[in-house]
Amino acid sequence: MIGVFDSGIGGLTVVRALLDRLPGHDITYLGDTARTPYGSKSATTIVKYSLKNTEFLLRQGARFIVIACNTASSYAFQAVRDQFNVPVFEVIGPGAHLAVARSRRQSIGVIGTRATIASGVYEAKIKQEAPEARVFAVPCPLLVPLVEEGWINKPETAMIVRKYLHPLKTRQIDTLILGCTHYPVLRHVIQRKIGARVALVDSAEAIAEQLAAFLGEPPAFVAQKDTGRRLTLFVTDVAEQFQKTAQLILRQPVIIHQADL
Ligand code: DGL
Repeated sequence: MIGVFDSGIGGLTVVRALLDRLPGHDITYLGDTARTPYGSKSATTIVKYSLKNTEFLLRQGARFIVIACNTASSYAFQAVRDQFNVPVFEVIGPGAHLAVARSRRQSIGVIGTRATIASGVYEAKIKQEAPEARVFAVPCPLLVPLVEEGWINKPETAMIVRKYLHPLKTRQIDTLILGCTHYPVLRHVIQRKIGARVALVDSAEAIAEQLAAFLGEPPAFVAQKDTGRRLTLFVTDVAEQFQKTAQLILRQPVIIHQADL
């Protein structure tokens, strides 16, 4: 079983990608809704929460851990890997790799939480692969609460997205990394505001591909659609809005369980 965690609802975009790409694998998800957001917390706290989340998933029987949160990936990947004896995957490396592969002019924008952008991890990973790349990173702290609230198609959300993307538009980026797992939910708004010529990189797709390779899965076009897999969802605080937004992201009805960490 694959254990996946995020600070809240955003990691479900990764679960959706895993369900599509890895049919046949059971997935257990933990959304730490009681302690979200992580994006405004200190590194020590993010590491502490990430270790607890991992422990919980391992108790449920996870054999691999996917840190489906850019913020936790930025600060806690090493700690989780050092502490537990299972393969651990994060979302930054695969996202950076995909962006370098897609960008023609190596002019790459990154949007994420304050903590992710402050960590500089995306920039470092991109430069490791393409030292000549120009990277422009912008924190977008208001987008996570808007998604958690389900304000996906509100004009106010579009206005805020436009304001955040303005500095990137003037830099003439050709690729934009959605460096927070909540942002793919706003993909249509982001694409409209940044312009059709900018390629959007969703780390959910990238991590699903990496995991498929690790598990020796056949390429996407021959993957079997499976019906027998099990998806179990836990949150640390059950809120009504979570269920609605979860169903919107996963495009299927869901049952949510309360997790006691
Ligand atoms: N979804 C998390 C991420 O990918 C951020 C949400 C939060 O701030 O907790 O960075």
